[in-house]
Amino acid sequence: MDGSVVRVGVLGCGTVGASLVALVDRQNATIHARTGLSLEISRIAVRDVSRSRPISVESAVVTSDAMAVATDPSIDVIVEVMGGISPARELLLAALGAGKPVITANKALLAAHGSELFAAAEAAGVDLLFEAAVAGGIPFIRPLRESLLAEPVLRVMGIMNGTTNYILTRMSEAGADYSDALAEAQSLGYAEADPTADVEGHDAAAKIAIVASIAFGAEVTGADVECEGISKITSDDIAFAKRHDFAIKLLAIAERFSGPNGDELSARVHPCLVPNAHPLAAVRDSFNAVFVQGEAVGDLMFYGRGAGGDPTASAVLGDLVDAAVNLQSGAHASLGAFVPMAIRPSGQLEAAWYLSLRVDDRSGVLAAIAGVFGEHGVSIDSMEQHSLSGPDDAANEARIDLIIHPASQSDVRSTLDALGVLDSVRSIGSTIRVLIEADR
Ligand SMILES: NC(=O)c1ccc[n+]([C@@H]2O[C@H](COP(=O)([O-])OP(=O)(O)OC[C@H]3O[C@@H](n4cnc5c(N)ncnc54)[C@H](OP(=O)(O)O)[C@@H]3O)[C@@H](O)[C@H]2O)c1
Repeated sequence: MDGSVVRVGVLGCGTVGASLVALVDRQNATIHARTGLSLEISRIAVRDVSRSRPISVESAVVTSDAMAVATDPSIDVIVEVMGGISPARELLLAALGAGKPVITANKALLAAHGSELFAAAEAAGVDLLFEAAVAGGIPFIRPLRESLLAEPVLRVMGIMNGTTNYILTRMSEAGADYSDALAEAQSLGYAEADPTADVEGHDAAAKIAIVASIAFGAEVTGADVECEGISKITSDDIAFAKRHDFAIKLLAIAERFSGPNGDELSARVHPCLVPNAHPLAAVRDSFNAVFVQGEAVGDLMFYGRGAGGDPTASAVLGDLVDAAVNLQSGAHASLGAFVPMAIRPSGQLEAAWYLSLRVDDRSGVLAAIAGVFGEHGVSIDSMEQHSLSGPDDAANEARIDLIIHPASQSDVRSTLDALGVLDSVRSIGSTIRVLIEADR
């Protein structure tokens, strides 16, 4: 580092990268006034140097040789905002190996190769910071790794995907069905042409894997996260939730349990009926929020924009200033070593559930269904029956919607299997967990 100027190499100049370059330009005087340091965007790597960009930088700064930027001896800090696993992984390992602090917004890379990259940063004695990778613009990772470092964290639950939250909000507030709400999200640029990663929960799964690692000091990858998305949520589910004072949200959950052989964890993504009185139920549109429960601190919530060029660049810039200050003082942030921790099998997880069945609309059916629940030790909290047949309709079909008291997932599965073979049950529809705060 040459005096007070920190030379920054940026890998990628798309949505986040271009916002970052503009934000550094806007905020450099403030950064200098508060830290005594100035940031200089010295090199930018992109795939296509001929593409026009919404920022003005000298053409000599931009290159398509990302490895030359990552290993350039004159560069002090590397920011990776290109995305993807390869070549991002190789570039970051090279930069860390060359002793450069790294800032990344790349959740997919950290969820798959976090341990390797954190070990490389530790070995080099430099920062690897990733605030933007989990909740975009919400500064949540730094409180988790610093303020809550010694807190016995029990559970972290988040709405960590803005696209799905927007779709669920529109289904609830505008009465849109799933496909119309998805099409609207796509037309507004909230959802990709191929929305699979968002709507099937994979994006949130990568984020909660990172959160579980930091919150519990455990080795967790995306492959450890059980994942269910929102594409099967129906207008009937939304209407049921509203009638009973719930909002349906896609939750990413990391949880720690005391097991007979030490701590166990669960990391999962699934839709959930959240009571309207819970703060997460009030998180609307494309906003994100992360709700932390600690043994000592109690409940905390972080709320804001989980994506978008400027919010994400804000989180990247916070990390960049931190890394620059650390570099000057010869310090670096350390996460300690991640240890293997047993994953609690999903069958053992306890939850309340909302279940929806299509059944014959005739006498004796309710008793038969209640009998199956009783045989499996699963108790019904509340039940609604709606006839789906008109007066002259020979279909004689009814929908039964139930909420069951907390039960293990394996008992719920075997109950559903047994219901599925009852003559009077035509089909099993939605099965969605219900958030019960008292169970923690
Ligand atoms: N967008 C968000 O709201 C958001 C929020 C949180 C986290 N993130 C994360 O931030 C990262 C960047 O996202 P983004 O939305 O900014 O992506 P983006 O708009 O697609 O930009 C990617 C940039 O990387 C460059 N690039 C890709 N592959 C390259 C390669 N092999 N060599 C050199 N340059 C390469 C592209 O070059 P060209 O411009 O020449 O194609 C482009 O400038 C991702 O990891 C994403 O998950 C994004």
